[in-house]
Amino acid sequence: MTKFRLEGKVAIITGAASGIGEETVKLFAENGAFVIAVDIQDELGHKVADSIGSDKVTYHHCDVRDEKQVEETIHFTLEKHGCIDILFSNAGIIGSLSGILDLDLNEFEKTMATNVVGAAATIKHAARAMIAKKIRGSIICTTSVAASIGGTGPNGYTTSKHALLGLVKSACGELGGYGIRVNSISPFGVATPLSCIAYNLEPHEVESSSSSHANLKGIVLKAKHVAEAALFLASDEAVYISGHNLVVDGGFSVVRNTPSAMPDV
Ligand SMILES: NC(=O)c1ccc[n+]([C@@H]2O[C@H](COP(=O)([O-])OP(=O)(O)OC[C@H]3O[C@@H](n4cnc5c(N)ncnc54)[C@H](O)[C@@H]3O)[C@@H](O)[C@H]2O)c1
Repeated sequence: MTKFRLEGKVAIITGAASGIGEETVKLFAENGAFVIAVDIQDELGHKVADSIGSDKVTYHHCDVRDEKQVEETIHFTLEKHGCIDILFSNAGIIGSLSGILDLDLNEFEKTMATNVVGAAATIKHAARAMIAKKIRGSIICTTSVAASIGGTGPNGYTTSKHALLGLVKSACGELGGYGIRVNSISPFGVATPLSCIAYNLEPHEVESSSSSHANLKGIVLKAKHVAEAALFLASDEAVYISGHNLVVDGGFSVVRNTPSAMPDV
């Protein structure tokens, strides 16, 4: 018998029209959740909701950089479903690829506005709603391996993801008193529009780059694997897990990838 790991739970997923967010919408709905799928790409967002073919998923336009739109999205969710159990704050952009010597500060601010300010606004208003309804909710943010290791993404992106990891830890400290868990997921390179368009690569090229750097061989990282990590953190299986950064990188960040300095024995 199938076990629905999020039966009857209400989830908001940002960045839901594409890539990791899209996969997570599908997986959460398959697991019994009611999902408010949030994005700024309306046509794609509606397609994602329609493709699921049930009343479980509703697309809702929201630009996370605009606090008013975030607040309105929370009201919309409460009116439709009565509460919020899960927030997957996943919307993100890679931003400018230029290096520190050519840094365009406007572009830098734009990256921070989506990846950090947008996440902060979403956590703020979702957490308020959880507290008001006495919901012991789960908040999950998509960070990146670039949240912990320099040189794994452009500087604005790396800065924003380090800041986001700090926000997760800070929110975890504050919201634990209300029984709300706050965690993050740090994926390695996944073939999505974000990575393919930014680096002008085909999906298979992103995948072969990640696979060649990852320690774990024989498997290719897909958006679905990140969605599965989100499902775990959202579910009651992770009921005592808070403040955790769940790295989904096939061992990339903990194993030296250059030839060993140890002599052969
Ligand atoms: N793809 C990767 O290699 C990778 C690796 C690590 C982390 N991540 C992170 O995963 C998350 C999802 O990215 P993805 O790879 O699925 O990319 P994606 O481009 O496929 O999806 C990102 C979605 O976020 C939406 N979005 C962007 N700005 C928004 C805004 N202001 N308001 C609402 N929605 C907005 C986009 O429209 C898009 O649908 C991002 O936070 C990204 O930084 C991606």
